[in-house]
Parts: sequence; C-alpha cells; structure tokens
Amino acid sequence: MAATTTTGAGAKPVIAVPFYSMYGHIATLAEEVIAGIEAAGGIAKPYFIAETLPAEVLEKMHAGASLKPKYPLLEPAHLTEVDGFIFGIPTRYGRAPAQVSAFFDKTGGLWASQALNGKYAATFTSTASQHGGQELTHLTTMPFFVHHGCIYVPIGYKEPYLSDNGEVHGASPWGVSTVANGDGSRVPTEGEKRVARFQGEHFTKIVAQAVRGRQ
Ligand SMILES: Cc1cc2nc3c(=O)[nH]c(=O)nc-3n(C[C@H](O)[C@H](O)[C@H](O)COP(=O)(O)O)c2cc1C
Repeated sequence: MAATTTTGAGAKPVIAVPFYSMYGHIATLAEEVIAGIEAAGGIAKPYFIAETLPAEVLEKMHAGASLKPKYPLLEPAHLTEVDGFIFGIPTRYGRAPAQVSAFFDKTGGLWASQALNGKYAATFTSTASQHGGQELTHLTTMPFFVHHGCIYVPIGYKEPYLSDNGEVHGASPWGVSTVANGDGSRVPTEGEKRVARFQGEHFTKIVAQAVRGRQ
C-alpha cells in the first residue's frame, strides 16, 4: 500500500503548490511560497484548484481571482508526480472552502491505492479577520492528509516574524497566512510574504532530505 514513486529530478525535490483563491490573497502568498521553493533548489509546480460555484453566485460575491486562474487546474494525478505539496487554502467558517473539499472528493482512487502515502504536505491560509480561524483552517484540513498517509510539515517558530507582536499580522507555527479584511482591502505585508518564502524554503529542505535518502 505504500507509495513508491520516486519523483526527485536528481537531488531536486519536486513540490506542487495547489491553491484556491477567490480574491487574490492566497494567490499572492503562493507566488512567495514558489519563490521560496526555488530559492532552496526545488522545482515548484503551481496548480489552481477549480472553481465550483455558479457564475451568478460568483458575480454576487465579487469574485475575481478564481475566474481567471493563472495556472493549470489541479487534477488528482498531479499529486502523484511530486514529492510533496503545499496547499493554499482561504478560510471559510474556520475550514477549507467547498472547492478544496470537492477536489479531495476526487482523490478516492489515490486513497484506495495509498498513492500519496509518505509524501509531504503543508498548508497556508488567509482570513478576513485576525481571529477568524487561521489555525483552525490548518487543523481542520489535516484529515485529508492523515487519511492519505501524508507527513505534515509545520513551520514552527524559526522565522522571527512569528514572534513579533509589534503589528497585526498573519502566520502561525502551522504555516504562513494573511489577514485580508472583510472587503479584501488588506494585502499580504512584506513580513507575511517573507514568512511565505520561508515556508517554501523550509518545506523544500525537509523534502530534499527524503529525496536524497531515496537516491
Ligand atoms: C463564505 C465565506 C466564509 C468565510 N469565512 C470566514 C471565516 O470563518 N473567518 C474569516 O476571518 N474570514 C472568512 N471569510 C473571508 C475569507 O477567508 C477571505 O475572503 C479569504 O481568506 C481571502 O483569500 P483570497 O483573496 O485568496 O480569496 C469567508 C469568506 C467567505 C466568502
């Protein structure tokens, strides 16, 4: 049942960055996570998680980013082609949006074969309000990874910005995050973007150890 795919190109870990973003905040963090992966010598494969809401609902929600994804749409098979994945997941009621759940509902075949068992996983998120459920979103996303047998990689407190209480900011030991405001007017700060790059680098270094170990 264990996954056996060896995907590292040479010593380079291959890391997917699948994300869903309705208003662009997660998309901005994803670019920084990708930069961090590449800075650590990894190969980043960004994917967009497909929209599921009808057009008339999206119009009322003033959706923008999810209507014009910059990257290919994520399919379950993409996760088998990489060593690990860092999912970008905005908060909906303290958990992942239905779009993300709908994607995982398509991964039953991978679950049955345990094709993702032993791969590495991480998450980053955003909320409208400072205490609107960032850590809860990381936590309530865990069952997807646990059932697939993935190894969850948090960032801990190595990046000093996490311990800086001098300004309002996202990011927790689970992973980077941002605070978007109810109207989406707050954009990821330089500090949050720095933590996003740190998360990409940190994850890549951990996965690189496993890739090297297999070679
Ligand atoms: C249906 C719905 C539920 C939401 N639930 C929460 C919530 O529980 N807590 C919160 O702070 N923000 C909540 N938000 C705000 C989103 O988290 C915010 O718009 C998102 O993080 C922005 O990311 P994006 O720009 O990448 O789409 C919700 C938004 C929607 C549309």
